[in-house]
This record gives sequence, C-alpha cells and structure tokens, in this order.
Amino acid sequence: MPFAHIIGTGSAVPERVLTNQDLEQIVDTTDEWIVRRSGIKERRIARQDKNETTTELGLSAARRAMQTAGVTADQIDGIIAATVTGDRLFPSTACMIQKELGADNAAAYDISAGCSGFVYGLEQANNGIRMGVSRTVLVVGTERLSSVLNWEDRSTCVLLGDGAGAVLLHGSDEPGGILSTHIKSDGRLWDLLYAEAGNNPPPAMLESLAFLPHHLKMEGNRLFKQAVPSMVKIAEQAIEHNKLSREDIQLMVPHQANVRILQAVAERLQIPMEKVYTNLHKYGNTSSASIPIALDEAYQEGRIKKGDYVLVVAFGAGLTWGASIIQWSL
Ligand code: ACO
Repeated sequence: MPFAHIIGTGSAVPERVLTNQDLEQIVDTTDEWIVRRSGIKERRIARQDKNETTTELGLSAARRAMQTAGVTADQIDGIIAATVTGDRLFPSTACMIQKELGADNAAAYDISAGCSGFVYGLEQANNGIRMGVSRTVLVVGTERLSSVLNWEDRSTCVLLGDGAGAVLLHGSDEPGGILSTHIKSDGRLWDLLYAEAGNNPPPAMLESLAFLPHHLKMEGNRLFKQAVPSMVKIAEQAIEHNKLSREDIQLMVPHQANVRILQAVAERLQIPMEKVYTNLHKYGNTSSASIPIALDEAYQEGRIKKGDYVLVVAFGAGLTWGASIIQWSL
C-alpha cells in the first residue's frame, strides 16, 4: 500500500486586519477581555470588493501548496475542500477551485465537519491514496466565517476570522507521511454551534433570509467543556495507535479556537506549550482553515523538519473531532 506524504503546503488570508481595538468600536467588549478569555489579538476579514471569497482564498492556498510541491494541475486526481462557509449552497467549493486550477483529472468534493473539516479531509485523502484510488490529492480548508457572524453578538464575533490553508498529498512507497487518522462525532450536541439558516424549508428560509442572516449561534462555555476531553482522548488514541510516546511528538498543531483550550489540552497530554504551535493571536478561529494555515506557517518558520512527528488535533461543530499523526516529509 502506498503511503500518503505531504509534499506541499500553502495558505492565504485576507488583507484586512480587524484588531480587538476595532471591535471595541463595534460591540461592548475590550481588548483585555478578548485576550484574557481567548488569546486572540486580531483576525483577518475578507472583502467582497477584493474578491476574497471562500473559493478565491482556497484557490490561493492551493496554488501555493502546488508551487511548493512542484505539481501541475493535470497531475491532481483529487480535491477535497473542507468548509462550512462555501460561496454557494451548491456546487461544491472544491469544484469551483477545480475549475480555476484547470485540474480536469480530479474528482472534487466538499466536507462539512466544522472546525474538524481539515482532519476529516486528511482522512479521506489518506484512505484514497492508501487504497490506490488516487495518487495526488489537494486538501483545502477554506472559510469566510465573517459571512455568518452576527456583528451584534459579542460572545461570538470576537472569536472568528477568515482564511484558507492547503496541503498537497502524494502517494509513494517510502514509509512515513500520514501515519494515522482518527475521527469522531456526536450529533446529539449539534445545537452547541450552528448557523441559523441554510437548508430549511422554503418559507422558513425566506423569512430567515429577510430578518436573520445566516447567523452563527454558539454556546461557548459548554463547547469549551466538550472540546478539551474530546481532543485529549483522541490525541492519546492517535499516539498509542502509532506506538509513540508524548516525547516523540515534535510539534502539536491543534485547531486554533482558544488559547485556554490549547493550554488545557497540552497540560493533560503532558506536552509542553513550546511544542504547541499557536497563531490564533493573529487570525482568531478560522474553523477548517486553522490547521492547514498553522501547518504552512510552522513549516515556513522551520518549526517542522523532515522526519518529525506532528500531531494535529481538531474539534468543531457537529460536534466533530479528530486527530492525525504525520511524519513530516518535506
Ligand atoms: N467582551 C466582553 N464580555 C463578554 C464578551 C466579550 N466579547 N463575550 C461574553 N462576555 C461576557 C458574558 O456576557 C459574560 O458576562 P456575565 O458573567 O455578566 O454573564 C462573561 O463575559 C463570561 O462569559 P462566558 O461565556 O462565561 O466566558 P468564558 O470564559 O466561557 O469565555 C468563550 C467565552 C471565549 C467563548 C469561551 O467559552 C470559549 O472560547 N469557548 C469555546 C468556544 C470555541 O472554542 N468555539 C469553537 C470551538 S469549536 C469550533 O472551533 C468550531
């Protein structure tokens, strides 16, 4: 069975920076509250007039991943886009990225798994490559969460941001790459984090479109309590599955939701914070984009080297969670 190696990474964020001080002018909040409760200092917000759509952000990240890998569009046979804020209900964001890339040999589809979408995408891509169904697969996490935010709700609008990240996976006989993926979900708790409108019956949808845009609703406190033990348990499963110890993990790249969640997860896993990659102070929570952006930045900054064991772990709407151990190939 071939092994699925990451041969390229890329990311793209909108130009516009929205700081905590800017948010103080919009809702009743303070920089001090946001930093203390979440660790976030600023986030990027997409602009329509700059064509910073979910598709365009994903496309830019994908192009950068292809560039690092030296792969052309015709060599790609799979495109998986993880997103909950696609530009349209359908077709998929992945198909729109496919068109712009000219990746005519690919099968393209989206995954909706909230902030765990990228890890779910890795699982799909890894399975396809391991089974010999595909050989070169793009996994893109791309979000424009600003499009579903209620800018009057201070408990959510300060936490989220826009951006995209991508990895390019390629099958080869050399051992390494994606060593494992574990994914889980619990639909009983879907209403802890959801968007108000969507595929509702037409009358409700018309009503909600007129009066209530697709606002995100979140019970942050209850999510926090679910996120920590779920991320810890699945990360432990991943480490044990690969017969590794915590000390073998060179870098943990978690979903960037809240620095307090990351500190709690790291503490319970007994992984020191120096080995936990964080960039949420710059971008906030970008949902499925947060792990691939972090992987790209960590790699560009020299925090990950060839042969390193990288633990990625995510938690998000659904509820969903997942973990993967990657032996870095670049
Ligand atoms: N500015 C100032 N005060 C605020 C703000 C704000 N932006 N937002 C809420 N408050 C107030 C509340 O009204 C509340 O006031 P009260 O005590 O008078 O009622 C007080 O601050 C405390 O609110 P809590 O919600 O209890 O604060 P908490 O410490 O739980 O922090 C937070 C809130 C940051 C949302 C936290 O619960 C959290 O990060 N949860 C996880 C959220 C998350 O990670 N979601 C995504 C995970 S899944 C995914 O990524 C898709």
